[in-house]
Amino acid sequence: MKSSISFIATILICCAMCETPPSIVLCPSVVSRDEWNANAATETNFLELPVKIVIICHTVTPECTTLQACMRRVKSIQNYHQKEKHWGDIAYNFLIGNDGRVYEGIGWDKVGRHTKQFNEVSIGIAFIGNFSAKLPSKAALDAAKNLLQCGCAEGHLDANYTLFGARDVSNTESPGANLNQEIQNWPHWMTMEQGQIIIPRK
Ligand SMILES: *[C@@H]1O[C@H](CO)[C@@H](O)[C@H](O)[C@H]1NC(C)=O
Ligand SMILES: *[C@@H]1O[C@H](CO)[C@@H](O)[C@H](O)[C@H]1NC(C)=O
Repeated sequence: MKSSISFIATILICCAMCETPPSIVLCPSVVSRDEWNANAATETNFLELPVKIVIICHTVTPECTTLQACMRRVKSIQNYHQKEKHWGDIAYNFLIGNDGRVYEGIGWDKVGRHTKQFNEVSIGIAFIGNFSAKLPSKAALDAAKNLLQCGCAEGHLDANYTLFGARDVSNTESPGANLNQEIQNWPHWMTMEQGQIIIPRK
């Protein structure tokens, strides 16, 4: 069961700023680090919770459409970040496969290496693939949206969190022009100017 895309219904009273009214919030099951056989982190820093900023990225790797292929991809991304980039762990808090599953990166409460100047104050969610000229699968987009609702309802994310595309706050193509366009329709999305009250630490 642990590898199925079954959804766990959690009954939660959600504050008004989360996009769902008090109701049942669907938390996606997450493929854990143990499942994808993560290496141990060599450095860990913690975020201040609840987190006020979410940044959407893409990995610019090949896509994956099965559990096995996505687990191998996530592991290879971690190897690249630790062994080539010499970072303490995989750069992202979560990764989303085109199989529609959510893969645990460093999780909700740790500092990643996804977006310069924003790492200490944000969660980075990366879609596996290159989404400059195409979109992730509908299952992948839905999984990410469910993860955000869940994070808000469970209190990892500030009820009034701000969603940015990486390219809107940093000198990067990520998350790709097409995906960046798509997320502008998501709840909580803002331009850097609209979100300017949130000033990241250095
Ligand atoms: C990502 O996709 C775009 C559009 O197909 C392409 O131009 C670009 O070179 C790709 N990026 C990488 C790093 O492969
Ligand atoms: C939520 O954040 C936006 C933009 O950062 C701000 O304009 C708004 O006043 C905030 N609302 C609350 C209730 O904090």
